[in-house]
Amino acid sequence: MKAAPAPTACGTSLPHESARAQVMGAVTYVDDIPEIQGTLFAAPITSTVAHGRLLGVDSSAALAMPGVHGVVLAADIPGSPILAAFAHDEPIFAQDTVQHVGQVVGLVLASSVMAARRAARRVKLQIEPLPALLDPRSAHAQASYVLPPVHVRRGDAAAALQRAPHQLSGSFEVGGQEHFYLEGQVAYAVPQEQRQWLVYSSTQHPGEVQHWVAHALGLDSHRVRVECRRMGGGFGGKETQAGHLAVWAAVAAHKFGRPVKLRLDRDDDFIITGKRHPFAYDYTVGFDDSGRLMGLDLTLLVNCGFSADLSGPVADRAIFHSDNAYFLEDVAIHSYRCKTNTQSHTAFRGFGGPQGVIAIETILGDIARHLGLDPLDVRLRNLYGTNERHVTHYQMTVEDNILEPLITRLAHTARYRERREAIARWNAQSPVVKRGLALTPVKFGISFTATLFNQAGALVHVYTDGSVMVNHGGTEMGQGLHTKVAQVVADELGVPFDRVLVSASDTARVPNASATAASAGTDLNGRAAQFAARNIRQNLAAFVCGLDGCGAGEVQFAGGLVSTPRGTRPFNDVVAQAYANRIQLWSDGFYRTPKIHYDKTTLTGRPFYYFAYGAACTEVAIDTLTGENRVLAVDILHDVGQSINPALDVGQIEGGFIQGMGWLTTEELVWNASGKLATHAPSTYKIPATGDTPPHMRVDFWPEPNREDNVFGSKAVGEPPFMLAISVWEALRDAVAQARGPHSGPVRMDAPATAERVLWALRGPGATAPESPGSR
Ligand code: MTE
Ligand code: HPA
Ligand code: MOS
Repeated sequence: MKAAPAPTACGTSLPHESARAQVMGAVTYVDDIPEIQGTLFAAPITSTVAHGRLLGVDSSAALAMPGVHGVVLAADIPGSPILAAFAHDEPIFAQDTVQHVGQVVGLVLASSVMAARRAARRVKLQIEPLPALLDPRSAHAQASYVLPPVHVRRGDAAAALQRAPHQLSGSFEVGGQEHFYLEGQVAYAVPQEQRQWLVYSSTQHPGEVQHWVAHALGLDSHRVRVECRRMGGGFGGKETQAGHLAVWAAVAAHKFGRPVKLRLDRDDDFIITGKRHPFAYDYTVGFDDSGRLMGLDLTLLVNCGFSADLSGPVADRAIFHSDNAYFLEDVAIHSYRCKTNTQSHTAFRGFGGPQGVIAIETILGDIARHLGLDPLDVRLRNLYGTNERHVTHYQMTVEDNILEPLITRLAHTARYRERREAIARWNAQSPVVKRGLALTPVKFGISFTATLFNQAGALVHVYTDGSVMVNHGGTEMGQGLHTKVAQVVADELGVPFDRVLVSASDTARVPNASATAASAGTDLNGRAAQFAARNIRQNLAAFVCGLDGCGAGEVQFAGGLVSTPRGTRPFNDVVAQAYANRIQLWSDGFYRTPKIHYDKTTLTGRPFYYFAYGAACTEVAIDTLTGENRVLAVDILHDVGQSINPALDVGQIEGGFIQGMGWLTTEELVWNASGKLATHAPSTYKIPATGDTPPHMRVDFWPEPNREDNVFGSKAVGEPPFMLAISVWEALRDAVAQARGPHSGPVRMDAPATAERVLWALRGPGATAPESPGSR
């Protein structure tokens, strides 16, 4: 009789490695680390003016307050006063000019957080205001850019537009988004002996924090160690922005020779840190009677805020995703990276992808209504083919396209056609509440667009009792990366999952790690850790072969046992014996993504290793008297390849969808006429609450492993589902169109589709817009 194969960790819905401890309040975030005696608490001094000359800082009133220890300003920075961000265009503390409301000019240090915050408000800034640019259109009109424009062209868009039997033009805007991580930005800088530093940072990128802190302090990188056990959410908001806090805290700690902790309160976090980039669009599209795209001219005006930060790669990714799932034959895309006097906008789940995808989905929705066709038919008509019409506008061949069968299956299981008819009947008899439906796909490119970041390292230790410790360069932000990496290592060594722990991310253990971003955390670190574990397994296999006189290929590691044709031993015994025979029980591992390359100047080549696919079918209802709207039902079919952990993947899909729904419905950022963010707290900025979860929400996986050789046959899942929420946006526009009736013209609406905007869109294209509350 053959023994049943030992259960593997990969493919199993194991709970998140910290879930139980997190719900019990028994895990440590940076702010929970017991403070060292003498720790000072910091609060930021921020600009109240969007653009101006900084003529003076008067701290006397603040310094006279109880508990206040001192102030740090730009002059106190021992190293470079310019942040070591790649564009070198951001001062650490504003010095001669301020460039947005909320720009940090310095810190107040005090013996308690509240004393520091109270005192920071008493610091008087003397600022001579200058004209401010607050929206991308005004910035573009004045050629105010953080980086040069980029144009990507294929074929002859102008000629194709001329030839096309139909043409449409339009303009619209899509708002930004606050990350609203539950744990706000925080850093704790602790001086060590001999000009060495330990910085605890809630960061997606410890290596960059290390580099920035070292640069600001004028030290070599090896003197700075950065540690992050976990974040309470990052969502891209801690890819670069966490570094600023760490640098500020370290500069203050350097000045006073004491540990310094800086935790922003929620309002300051909103006012100071960058958000998702708001976009403005202008397009002209030409198409035939069937809705097939012929020519497209698309301009993307990207609101980058006052500095480059990650705006270059974000704007590039928007260009790469302006096709979403569709073949754009003759196309011209113009991307302007507009410099405005707002926070410096940054990475946010999807990293410009959502802003590209929503443009083409909006255009296809417009085309369908213009021709009186079902939007799903127009979408299907334009999908990439599998053998032809399968080269993107950036010259990458789409080799793994599964969208046609995936959409067909979802349309069937979600009963798209039947519901379309049912909704039409329902709308005909419902005078006030109207429904809408949309099915939209996602094709998301996996790999960092900056090719060099697609590398990872890991260090795996097996201790003499057989327990395993994994260190890798990735960070845990709730997505379950550590759990998945531990699953991969457990299977590679054939030990039970509970024998494997993952350490805090630490620049002293794994150097030069990329940000945990671009959804590639498991692809990169999972493989690096797998390779490290494989080295150890090979050492053990060679050792066992020597004992049993067999070939290395005959040794099996599974279920905590090591077997050869001669017999079976517990893994722990093998480890103990191997140690006694001086066999190395730990190893490093390194991985670099194969096949990718592209030309940064023309944006052509193969930037992505593979694509992650998915589709969502969403039904909404709108109240035509108030504009209020709800998502009633969502059916999702998403491609995670062969899932390493189905429960975690479903969590990512649901969470990503809901976060995208918030972006497109209720989360509205409003900057007032003087450039102050008016929506800077949960009282005015509405993320989805539990009650906003659609009553019907079904998530299925596409049943096929990754066609590229990726860890366990899986696919990245962190960001792609965010864009499934564009089905909410298209369903809302469908509901508006159905409420207005046939031939009522295009549905013009900016995102997010707040109640006001839906109400406005219901009035139709003839009406004039109300005074907007501010710029976006
Ligand atoms: N899920 C949770 N719970 N918290 C987060 O902060 N960030 C998202 C996504 N899912 C995030 C999340 C973003 S922006 C990215 S890029 C990926 O997780 C990063 O992790 P991964 O590469 O391990 O998927
Ligand atoms: N995604 C996220 N972060 C990044 C990327 C990307 O593609 N490129 C550089 N930083
Ligand atoms: Mo995610 S926006 O790549 O951190």
